[in-house]
Amino acid sequence: MKASSLSFQAAVLLVLVGMGWGIAMAASGDHSTMPAHAHLNLLGWVSLFLFGIFYHLHPNLDRSRAALVQVWTWIVATVVLVVGVGLIHTGRTAGDPIAAVSSLVVFGDMAFFGWLVYRRNRAGEVRSAVPAE
Ligand code: HEM
Ligand code: HEM
Repeated sequence: MKASSLSFQAAVLLVLVGMGWGIAMAASGDHSTMPAHAHLNLLGWVSLFLFGIFYHLHPNLDRSRAALVQVWTWIVATVVLVVGVGLIHTGRTAGDPIAAVSSLVVFGDMAFFGWLVYRRNRAGEVRSAVPAE
């Protein structure tokens, strides 16, 4: 599967859960899990969709194993982070280490994405420096 297809499909599933969560918060009047809802939508919908657009614009990268690993890592770490943050905000300290470790994974995975972006741009510059025949 292409990394962009995985990004778009996972983003849609995660935002449906995130919106359902938002509706449940609004309906119950209990906004205590707001940070978990916010990050499910921001990491799971906004960020994943943006990754998908970037990969779609760069077809070679889109078909690479590295991009697929980056997207899968993001999906899994986002779900784990949201569970951890949800536990914290419902008074369960067990969520603390879960949120801590997964936030570092998310951070590392963003650094990995950044590396792919920079590496791709450098490769593009090298190619464009070669005169066309
Ligand atoms: C059906 C759709 C949604 C509903 C019903 C909903 C509902 C809510 C509710 C009730 C809150 C708590 C507000 C508060 O206590 O101040 C909230 C916070 C938040 N939501 Fe949603 N939400 C929805 C979709 C989204 C989406 C798609 C995103 C992101 C793309 C998002 C991002 C946020 C953020 C960032 C906050 C925290 C805002 C703050 O810092 O005050 N939400 N949402
Ligand atoms: C490793 C990734 C991230 C970590 C560990 C993190 C951590 C946090 C923390 C601790 C808060 C305060 C929550 C509270 O009020 O209790 C927060 C709030 C917020 N963050 Fe993040 N964040 C991350 C990524 C992001 C990203 C990528 C976005 C946007 C695309 C974002 C948007 C926000 C917003 C809008 C708020 C205010 C709403 C809220 O309180 O939940 N965060 N974040």
